[in-house]
Order: sequence, then C-alpha cells, then structure tokens
Amino acid sequence: ELKDNTVIIVLGASGDLAKKKTFPALFGLYRMGYLPRGVHIVGYARTKMDLVEFHKRATSYIKNPDDDPAIAAKIEEFKGFSTYVSGSYEDSTAFQALTKHIEDIESEYGSPERHRLFYLALPPSVFIPVAKNLRENCYAPNINRIIVEKPFGKDLDSCRELLGSLKQHWAEDETFRIDHYLGKEMVKNMLVLRFANVGLSSGWDRNSISNVQITFKEPFGTEGRGGYFDEFGIIRDILQNHLLQVLSILTMERPVSFSAEDIRDEKVKVLRCVPPIAQEDTLLGQYVAANGKPGYLDDETVPPNSVCPTYAATTLWINNPRWEGVPFILKAGKALNEAKVEIRIQYKDVTQGIFKEIARNELVIRIQPTESIYLKLNTKVPGLNTRTVPIEMDLTYKRRFSDAHIPEAYESLILDALRGDHSNFVRDDELDVAWRIFTPILHWIDGKMGPPPRPLPYPYGSRGPKELDAFIRKYGYKRTDRQYTWPVTNVS
Ligand code: BG6
Repeated sequence: ELKDNTVIIVLGASGDLAKKKTFPALFGLYRMGYLPRGVHIVGYARTKMDLVEFHKRATSYIKNPDDDPAIAAKIEEFKGFSTYVSGSYEDSTAFQALTKHIEDIESEYGSPERHRLFYLALPPSVFIPVAKNLRENCYAPNINRIIVEKPFGKDLDSCRELLGSLKQHWAEDETFRIDHYLGKEMVKNMLVLRFANVGLSSGWDRNSISNVQITFKEPFGTEGRGGYFDEFGIIRDILQNHLLQVLSILTMERPVSFSAEDIRDEKVKVLRCVPPIAQEDTLLGQYVAANGKPGYLDDETVPPNSVCPTYAATTLWINNPRWEGVPFILKAGKALNEAKVEIRIQYKDVTQGIFKEIARNELVIRIQPTESIYLKLNTKVPGLNTRTVPIEMDLTYKRRFSDAHIPEAYESLILDALRGDHSNFVRDDELDVAWRIFTPILHWIDGKMGPPPRPLPYPYGSRGPKELDAFIRKYGYKRTDRQYTWPVTNVS
C-alpha cells in the first residue's frame, strides 16, 4: 500500500506548523518504519536558508529527551533524505525549479513510477496560488496527493469560494483536508466503542441519554498569535471543526462499511439534521488578566476593543429519531485552569420509586491527556448495609495498555494520506454542512447583524465564565455528587 518512489513536499517548510507538527510527524513515521522505502522529503518556502539551517529548523521539535544515540542516529538519517528549496508562492518559474529538484531526486529511483505528496503548511492567503502552481508545474506522472489544513474559509460563503477555487486544480480524491482531531487515538476508537459493543450501543439514544458535553480546555492564552486568533475566534478555531467532528462520529448511524465514503456519508447525514445554532444556545467569554497572567486584550497584536470570544459554549440539537431533544453542549476555551479534552455522556435518572437522589450514570471518554474511558456507575457499599456509592469502571490506557505507543495525530493522518485512505479527512460536503450550522452565530458575533454580543469576562486560569454552570444546568446536566472526583490524574 505504501508506494515506493515517493517524494513528500512540505510547502511552508520554514513556518510554525511545519516545524512543530509536520516534520516531527514525518520523523516519527520514519522512526517507526512507516515511510515508504526510498522516500525523500523536500521543504519549500520563501525564506532563503542553506541546508544546515533547514535541517536545524526541521528537527528542532523532534524529541530526544534522554539523548538516546539510536534516536540521534535516526535524526541524522532523516536529514540525509531531506532537502530544501526556496522560492515564491506566486511565481511559476520558482515551481519549475522545485520540479527540477524533485526530478533530480526521482532520477535515482530504479523505476519510472512517481508519487508526490504535497503538504500545504501555509497561511490561507497563498492556498490558491500554491495549489494552482503545483498542479500546473509539479504534477507527477502517477499519483499526486495534496494535504491542506484549516482555516477553510471563515463562513459558509467564503468556504465554498475557497473549495471551489481549489477544485479547479485538484480533484476530491487527490485532496486530503486535515482536521487533526480525527487522527487522535480516542477519536478513532469511537467507531469501535460504538459499533463493536452491543452493551453500549443499545442505550445510545434519547431514551437513555439526558445530555452530552464535548469539552476542550487549554491552560494557555493566545500569547504570540493574538493577531491571527482575533480574526477567527474560538468557534472557528475549535468548535466548528474539531468538536463538531467528534460530535458527528459520536452521533452518526452505523456506516454500511468502514470505507471512507460510507463513514463520511453517515457523518454528513447526521450533521444535516442539526439546525443552525441559536443565539440563546450560546455563551461567550473572553479572558482577563489574573494571577500575573495577561488578559486577551493586553496582547499588543489584538485590537484594543476586540469582542472576539476566547471561550464559547454552544448547544446543538439533532432532529432525528435517535437524538431529538438531547442537548449536545460543545464548549472550548483558552487560558483555563487545565488541559483537557473529553466527551461526557450523562444518562437519565433511573425511574423514581426505589432510589432517592442516586447519581446519574456517566460515560466519559477522555481524549487527552491520559487517554481513558470510564463509566460512572452506582454500586452497593460492601458489607452489612444497603448504602450505595458512585464508582467508576475504569479503562485508563496507561494502566491497561502499559506498553502501547499512542501515535501523534499527525503521524496517523500523514500515514493515511500516504496510503490514500480518506476516512479520517474532511470531505467537501462535510465542511459545507459544518459551516451552515455555525455561520449565523458567527455573523452575529462578527457584528454583521447589529452590535456584536459582549463576551463575559473570566480570569486567566479559571474554569471559564462563572455563568457556565447555570448554562449547563439549563440543559438538564446534573452534578449529582459534589464529593466525587475522578482519581485518574494520579497516573503518570
Ligand atoms: C488547533 C488550534 O487547531 O488545535 C489551536 O488552532 C489549538 O488553537 C490546537 O491549540 C489544539 O490541538 P491539540 O492537539 O493540542 O489539542
């Protein structure tokens, strides 16, 4: 499945994304033996630099904490098949020079087969000229694939325009749109959890489930990238893509097969049942200075009176027989008290008559950190009594799969793209329906429908706006046991 004679071309090779994610992931794959035989990597960007400087940058985020000589040797090998070309993003002669460079590499390959994977780690302003130039000047005789990353527009119309322009140059089956949450181990596990377990799937609906929260928390603010962030805000940064992807896999019907199109058909189908989010189902926040940390507006790159939300909770509804009436609360924030991404499914109360004030069951899928799945159940306190106690059935990965290596999301996705598997990439119609759900509230927040809403302030390092608890309660979430804390955080 992995094609020999592959050249991977990373466009935007001097940028942050390439340095922090793309090159470390390529190295990770190489180290684990998952890059094609004889692979070459070519970096391309505007910055002029020599090979030594390029290697230094490209490997600067590759981890080797214990100075393991075996890893150090692998890094040297990795450098040995990585080269760099500098050139403009607009000028076709620069891309012809890139092709010449690629062809020189390929001329060493024994066979005439040519496979090129283009990875666009670029700002959206140059997506289109680069896609066009690559198609016109750098297209290989055999397989060509192109990986692109968000932002895919800023609303429904701009997304359609961008996708339309890209489609003039690259076909859907050549295009791999990354949402890196789809490469995370726990997100990938959801297909198995849901469809390989009758015990879970039989209660996976409005009859058993009261409400669902999908939560993203980051303990740091937008320091350094405030200017970029301010144009987008937390909804475009996290909810419209990462959390909505998780929601679609969590709620879709069983796909006919695990083929890419069957899976993506079901994801689109369930998302089409979600009406645009209502303003009253939205809670917005912006962090302010606290504990010696700066507020969002203290960042010099942020416009002084910005009302850009750095926190958002939105409730989505799915109008189909399985999910009607179940609130799905998507919430995400920067500068919070902890780093955590999880899905919390809260079941309904047991029917009344026997137990008073018994805790609700909850199934929690912790995507990161400390990957785990736990089910909160009630059990009898052991001994000569009839008291009950909430406990958890615990699948903490580090305990249960202690030797397992959990791949980085980007490793998993680049490998999929090399194999030509689209399952974990976002299809064009999926993006369209995702934007349709979020565009009305985004236009409201952007001030296109009158004065924009003011985000609620929350201190840097807090749980979010204090209004959050009431917001979640409104949708039926019950915090039944205040004493209960999940002990997993002690595992290292
Ligand atoms: C990116 C966002 O898509 O995801 C960032 O642009 C965010 O703002 C990041 O920090 C989070 O990814 P992860 O894998 O660290 O959860």
